[in-house]
Amino acid sequence: MAIWMEGEDYVMNAAGQVESKRNAGYRAAGMVEDGMIVGLGTGSTVFFAMERLGERIAGGDLSIAGVPTSYQAALRARQYGIPLTSLDEHPEIDIAIDGADQVDPGLNLIKGRGAALLREKCVCDAAKRVLIVVDPTKVVDTLNAPVPVEVLPFASAAVFRRLALLGAVPVIRDGVKKDGPVVTDNGNFILDCDFGAVADPQHLEARIASIPGALECGLFSAYGEKIVVIVGEENNCRVISLR
Ligand code: A5P
Repeated sequence: MAIWMEGEDYVMNAAGQVESKRNAGYRAAGMVEDGMIVGLGTGSTVFFAMERLGERIAGGDLSIAGVPTSYQAALRARQYGIPLTSLDEHPEIDIAIDGADQVDPGLNLIKGRGAALLREKCVCDAAKRVLIVVDPTKVVDTLNAPVPVEVLPFASAAVFRRLALLGAVPVIRDGVKKDGPVVTDNGNFILDCDFGAVADPQHLEARIASIPGALECGLFSAYGEKIVVIVGEENNCRVISLR
C-alpha cells in the first residue's frame, strides 16, 4: 500500500507525538455531527477528541451524548462537559472514537493497553462508524504487539494454559501503584499474550474467543469496513479507510 508507513521505523519525539495525537483527536471530533450518539474510547489520544467535543458543545455548535468505554472515559467526559448515556439506552451508536495500540493495512487492530478492551469492543460493535485515532508509531505492516485478553479470574489458570497451547507467552498484567494483578472495570484480570507476528488476526481472534473464561481479546479484526483510521501527524492528518 503506497500510503503505508511502517510504525516500527517511525521515530517521533515526545512533543511531536503529543501534537500528532491532538491533530488526530481534533480531526475525529470535527467529524461528529449534531444529535449523534458517540462512543467514547479510552486512552490518551481520545482525550484530545473529547477536549474538542467539549469545546464544540460549550460553543453551542453541538448537542451529543457519549457512551463511555471505561471509568476513565466517563470521568474525562464529565470534565469536558460531554453528557453521558449508556449502551442500554442506545444499543446502536452513530459513531465511536477510539485509540489503538497497533493498526495494520487491513485495518485490523490491537487494543487494550488501558485494559478497556471488553467495553471498547462492545461499543465498536454497536457503532455504525468507528474513528480510530492514532499517532504514526501505531501503524505497522503486521500486528506483533502482545494481545491483551480479559479473563474471568475463576478460570484464569485454565485460560492461561489454553492460550499457551495456542502459542502465546501469557503474562498476567500487574497493577501500577497497586500490588497484584490489574482488575479491570469489569472485575476481571488481563493476560498479555505475546504471539509474535500475527499472520492471521481473524483466525487468532476466533481461536481465543472459543476459550471459556476468555471474555474478550484486544484483536479487532471484524470491523475494517466501518473503521476510518485517522493518523495524526505533527502538522496534518492522514485518513485511511478500506472503502
Ligand atoms: C484502552 O484499553 C486501549 O485500547 C487504548 O484505546 C489504546 O491503548 C490506545 O491508547 P493511547 O491513545 O493512549 O495510545
